[in-house]
Amino acid sequence: MTASHKVALFPGSLRRHGMTRRLGRILAELAPPTLAIETVEIGGLPLYDADLEAAAPSAWLDLRRQLQGADAVLFVTPEHNRSIPAALKNAIDVGSRPYGENSWAGKPGAIVSFSTGAMGGFGVNHHLRQCLVFVDVPTMQQPEVYLGNADAVIDERGRMVSESAEDFLRQFMTAFADWISLTRR
Ligand SMILES: Cc1cc2nc3c(=O)[nH]c(=O)nc-3n(C[C@H](O)[C@H](O)[C@H](O)COP(=O)(O)O)c2cc1C
Repeated sequence: MTASHKVALFPGSLRRHGMTRRLGRILAELAPPTLAIETVEIGGLPLYDADLEAAAPSAWLDLRRQLQGADAVLFVTPEHNRSIPAALKNAIDVGSRPYGENSWAGKPGAIVSFSTGAMGGFGVNHHLRQCLVFVDVPTMQQPEVYLGNADAVIDERGRMVSESAEDFLRQFMTAFADWISLTRR
């Protein structure tokens, strides 16, 4: 089956081989074949500064184009100090401007938060939800993913070592595909 929906995956960590990237690859593998998932690199985005809009940095324009070309957005993120990692928040801000040209608007979204501790990134998950209301991303409510103890579930080579967690993530991605079909404007 060919993919019918392009999903832009926003990672909350810039590390090349960290847990975020491993989890992102697993989610892409578990997704139904109707979803084509591509990671958006956000590390090179200059910090948002409205004074730069007159000659917007090319990295901002690229991000906005990538967003406009996507049918949906998926956030895969740890929390930083119980909230949204700065690079990810900057990407949200860049995509939401210039004023009146919000590239996020109407893109169905979903959030996968994780931690290597027990709490599964609950803080970032809900802070992100708050931002996504304002930038008009209809965000899937259920199922929620707060993947705790992630390094006991995903090994160094990026393999799932828990069958029940793998089943749950597969169900999550299937629900997300349904959510995109239902809500895409
Ligand atoms: C600045 C910073 C703040 C962090 N704050 C939290 C936190 O509030 N809660 C938490 O569970 N983990 C926290 N962590 C740990 C991250 O969840 C952990 O580093 C995670 O593996 C990052 O994903 P990565 O391997 O893809 O970089 C923090 C890490 C950093 C670098």
